[in-house]
Amino acid sequence: MDKILIVGPASQILGIKIALELGIEAINTETKLFPDGENYLRINIEDETRITEKEVIIVQSTGPSFNRTQNARIMELLMMIDSVKRMGAAKTTVIIPYLAYARQDKRFRPGESKFAEILIQLLNSSGINELFAVDVHSPSILEECSCKAINIDSMKILADYIKSKGTKEIIVVSPDKGAEERSRLFATHFGANVPVEVFEKKRDLKTGEIKMSGSLSLKNRDVVIADDIIATGGTMAKAIKLAKLSGARKIFAVATHALLLQQAKYRILNAGADEIIGTDSIDNEVSKVSLAKIIADYLR
Ligand code: R5P
Repeated sequence: MDKILIVGPASQILGIKIALELGIEAINTETKLFPDGENYLRINIEDETRITEKEVIIVQSTGPSFNRTQNARIMELLMMIDSVKRMGAAKTTVIIPYLAYARQDKRFRPGESKFAEILIQLLNSSGINELFAVDVHSPSILEECSCKAINIDSMKILADYIKSKGTKEIIVVSPDKGAEERSRLFATHFGANVPVEVFEKKRDLKTGEIKMSGSLSLKNRDVVIADDIIATGGTMAKAIKLAKLSGARKIFAVATHALLLQQAKYRILNAGADEIIGTDSIDNEVSKVSLAKIIADYLR
């Protein structure tokens, strides 16, 4: 079946790169906000038969970017899915490099919703045939998908980038217990027996305030602090300060999804990081590692 790719407004660079990797046609969209705040999206196409009977691949991250919230990005995604189905797509494959709301996978306090699950239900009801997301905060939420759903792992390509920086005596630090398993897997990409240390993080569920503890011997070590998401940078900044106090030489702050909200860049660099590294799941100045090839490999 012929493939065609729709480049979502939130994934312009990554979308084009995936189309180039696959050697297939890419179509852009046009978007705007109506005066009342509603989203508008149109796939930039005059002849709808270009979509009919094709396998359509939609690439759209759902992080906040370029003056659009994650809610707007989700609405745009649902609009793209609806539009290609109305144009007669034979198969709809959706790539969501950053899956928003994935951190709301549990009810932490009475009265809360479990919105990660609702988002998956929305995607189910949209009638997609395949879903690919990258390093989902809680990959188990993909089990709620009624179609094939794959969580793509970006750890190897992030590790390759860091190794290209001439790092020595690497130690991987997990900023909390939740990230430990991922950090242990991440460490294996730097070689056998690369140590992993875990800090203890406690977040106040009401205020969001973070307390972190841990003291390690990091003297003469290049430290890689790895997390799935950097949002406000609070977690990273605390971990970096502890790593500095523990004698780290160089510090790399690494996340698949570097949302960099509010003053995250300042907080992380001011805490002592040498570099912030993210993937192009979020299109910003730290998206140094492209997901295009690993995503394309799943689509060939
Ligand atoms: C939480 O469990 C995540 O893995 C990240 O640690 C968290 O989202 C980072 O948030 P922030 O940058 O605001 O501290």
